[in-house]
Amino acid sequence: MSYKVMGVTAGRKNSNSEYLLKEALSACQEQGADVTMINLRDYNILDCTGCTACTKGMSEGKNVGCVLDKKDDKKRIMDVMLNQDAVIFSVPTYDLMPTATYLAFAQRSLAFETAFLEAIHAIEHRDRIAGLISVGGSTRSWQSMALEGMQATMFTTDFKVVDMILATQVPGNGQCLLNDELMARAHRMGENIMECLRTPAAERKWMGEEDMGWCPNCHSNALVLGEPQWDGLYYPIECQVCGAGGTLEKTEDGKWKFVISEDGLLKDRTTVEGRAKHLEEIGTIQGGFFGDPEKLKQVAEKKIKYVNMHFKGV
Ligand SMILES: Cc1cc2nc3c(=O)[nH]c(=O)nc-3n(C[C@H](O)[C@H](O)[C@H](O)COP(=O)(O)O)c2cc1C
Repeated sequence: MSYKVMGVTAGRKNSNSEYLLKEALSACQEQGADVTMINLRDYNILDCTGCTACTKGMSEGKNVGCVLDKKDDKKRIMDVMLNQDAVIFSVPTYDLMPTATYLAFAQRSLAFETAFLEAIHAIEHRDRIAGLISVGGSTRSWQSMALEGMQATMFTTDFKVVDMILATQVPGNGQCLLNDELMARAHRMGENIMECLRTPAAERKWMGEEDMGWCPNCHSNALVLGEPQWDGLYYPIECQVCGAGGTLEKTEDGKWKFVISEDGLLKDRTTVEGRAKHLEEIGTIQGGFFGDPEKLKQVAEKKIKYVNMHFKGV
């Protein structure tokens, strides 16, 4: 059986993100994959309007799609992307984060929320994996939210991230081609993706460097101080990406280590079950607001001041 693998980039034409992606995809093709590749810069992607018509429809058991479906290329791309076995995303870092071209694309995925659509039987479940490549001119220090920002966009369409590369110090157009080790690592990502695809979905594991990042669960390199959550759950330290909760401990060799608590994966955002907890949160908070006529009346009164407040624009 031929696996379908897609590459999605948002970098300059014929430059680092494209070359690293092509190197990874070539490894997939060598192993018989049916490969597709796009650069988001070639497409028209509008910003999410925030209307939430899609999720409102889903909450009523209907797949209504997105109000922008006929106005840009997002749906055309998603129809192909969600039909893949694996997708490799290769995205430049701008201002420490994934570039806006990619984020605008990713943040239009709510209408394709796979767990919701599966729950209302609008789509069949499909196990999908992803490889992520962040490409920046600097070191980790100036790419501090780059891979993490990409990881955060994987939940909505339920991509299991199995490998990640932080491609550092490649500012110049095509400069990655001078770094043989980096190009070889990109090739290995393609091989890792193929090996993972040949593994039964339930047994698929992280294929990247075992010691990558702080978080032993999602391999992000970003931790935050915990605060009491909406339901009272509290962890001293949380993984910024997957939400794993735990604390920092010093190892025998004097290094700090993030240790996940026994119940620390209760709200693991990389799993459908963990994300369901967030739905509970939304239900409680929004339900408490929309379902309360007194609160809605208060907002209607208080907003008049702001609706009628105007400042000069540009
Ligand atoms: C507006 C802008 C902001 C950037 N910000 C960062 C940054 O915060 N960190 C970093 O490492 N590189 C940054 N870069 C460098 C790019 O990530 C780098 O040139 C990369 O190779 C671009 O990928 P590409 O060659 O695939 O287009 C920035 C580049 C631009 C144009």
